[in-house]
Amino acid sequence: MLEIVSSKGALGARLEGLDRAKANEPELAATLNRALAEHLLVVIPGDPMTPAQTRDFAAAFGKPQTQLLRYKRSGEVPEVSVMVSTLMTDGTTDKTALRAEDWHTDDSYFAIPAKATLLHSIEIPSQGGSTWFCNMHSVYEALPEATKKRIDGKRAIHGYDTPRARNRPSPRTPAEIAETPDVEHPLVRTHPDTGRKALYLNPNRLDRIVGMERAESDALLDELADEARKPQHHFGHVWKRGDIVVWDNRATMHRVMIDYPVGETRIMQRVLIEGSRPV
Ligand code: OGA
Ligand code: MN
Repeated sequence: MLEIVSSKGALGARLEGLDRAKANEPELAATLNRALAEHLLVVIPGDPMTPAQTRDFAAAFGKPQTQLLRYKRSGEVPEVSVMVSTLMTDGTTDKTALRAEDWHTDDSYFAIPAKATLLHSIEIPSQGGSTWFCNMHSVYEALPEATKKRIDGKRAIHGYDTPRARNRPSPRTPAEIAETPDVEHPLVRTHPDTGRKALYLNPNRLDRIVGMERAESDALLDELADEARKPQHHFGHVWKRGDIVVWDNRATMHRVMIDYPVGETRIMQRVLIEGSRPV
């Protein structure tokens, strides 16, 4: 019997007793999507799965889509990417893992960003490497009224890279560059399932607010990010091998803690679920 246990924190719920093989049954899939919209993040404990099983499970949340970076796609199941964030002894590691160390929402450099991301742990380090999540409904609601008025109706430019990000992203092939022109999104978006407003921020990809000088835009984006950095909006997930975590990119940000031992393997399968244009 499925039990939805709220984290009682800023966001998140744990789904106990879920038979992953039945997740696509319409009634259960509807329950899972309601839990995602309400809690913004669901944790489903279990055993490591094959890429095909992960893709099939992810379909309960919508249409799995292929991800930008071709080299990460799993050969036989292109909708599943394999994310290796192992820290190498020579000091190099996967660039996108390092970049995921700052707060971000996935895929905002696309005109139609992913609704949700599913991460499934295949190998985890002995300690550290947790993933933290931020509730962007509560961040929006916590803003002073004057700030809410200032950002009302404002739009912002998101790009694959921006000088505002702390780290540089993975290099793109010519085909990947062609797929990632800059895009514009509202700074405040409305969740299509719940009607709640969320601040649509992404310190890794958000370059500037449309119609503002760079300095004014930078100052306002920094002010908004400062609210999102407050722990009252956060929930941390400590991984167990085989966990599935699904988060709602429409109203959350996330970051990984790169604090695990060098040389210990950290491998995740990742699926993005097709979204809709932010409004
Ligand atoms: C991601 C991501 C964080 C992690 O897959 O989009 O940011 O903990 N991952 O690996
Ligand atoms: Mn991410």
